[in-house]
Amino acid sequence: MEINLAVIGGTGFYHPDILQDSKEIVVKTAYGEASLIIGVYRGRALAFLARHGGGHALPPHRINYRANIAALKEIGAKRVLSATAVGSLREKLAPGTLVVTDQFIDFTKNRRQTFYDGSDEKGVIHTDFTDPYCPEIRENLKAKLQNMAVSFAKEGTYLCTEGPRYETPAEIKAFALLGADLVGMTNVPEVTLAREAGLCYANLSLVTNYAAGISPHPLSHQEVVEMMEEKLSVIRELFMETLISLPPERKCRCRQIEEYPLGGK
Ligand code: HPA
Repeated sequence: MEINLAVIGGTGFYHPDILQDSKEIVVKTAYGEASLIIGVYRGRALAFLARHGGGHALPPHRINYRANIAALKEIGAKRVLSATAVGSLREKLAPGTLVVTDQFIDFTKNRRQTFYDGSDEKGVIHTDFTDPYCPEIRENLKAKLQNMAVSFAKEGTYLCTEGPRYETPAEIKAFALLGADLVGMTNVPEVTLAREAGLCYANLSLVTNYAAGISPHPLSHQEVVEMMEEKLSVIRELFMETLISLPPERKCRCRQIEEYPLGGK
């Protein structure tokens, strides 16, 4: 069975009630293994990927992003929606706000960033990131959000740090000057690898806290987890409904490099 649609979430994002006939599969890729839960939602095959690994809880800088995206490609995924937790750099983006991310800034330092490292016959490939997130999925996501009683922002720039530490207030001030609205640790290179693999990929970020120096108290993983748990069921349903409402044929430009198979290294 080809599985067209996929969701990437943090630990605890999947809930057994959401899919029928669900089962866990381990997909072996040239970049490592990833475990997925596959099943059926309203008659459509769908996959859930736990970004941090099934039960292993890898920290953001240790996640095998290439294996995760290659596994989705392997099962036939074409469209992917991801959820991430972020700190907010803007007063108007209060904790609890959902943001349909439209740009990113990459401050990661030590991650495998590409499938195309020049070590095989594909040669040099440079990928366009004018629209880093699939415009078609973003539009559908916003349309669904409009009908829900949740506060959301139509756009936002996500700055990805290496982690696992949180930022200093000086870094947050600098990031805000650079144009970032949100700070997190997991969206890059997930978003870039998805594009390289020819997948349509969009992101919804949940503001779990004000960033360091803006928040009135020191940051804790606990507050991030608590806010995520509070919003999980809403986001899950939003994702499923968005994915199944997409027209069957992709019209966006994300698929532009689909014809290049992933490398084998
Ligand atoms: N900084 C980095 N990553 C995060 C934050 C933060 O404030 N909140 C949730 N993920």
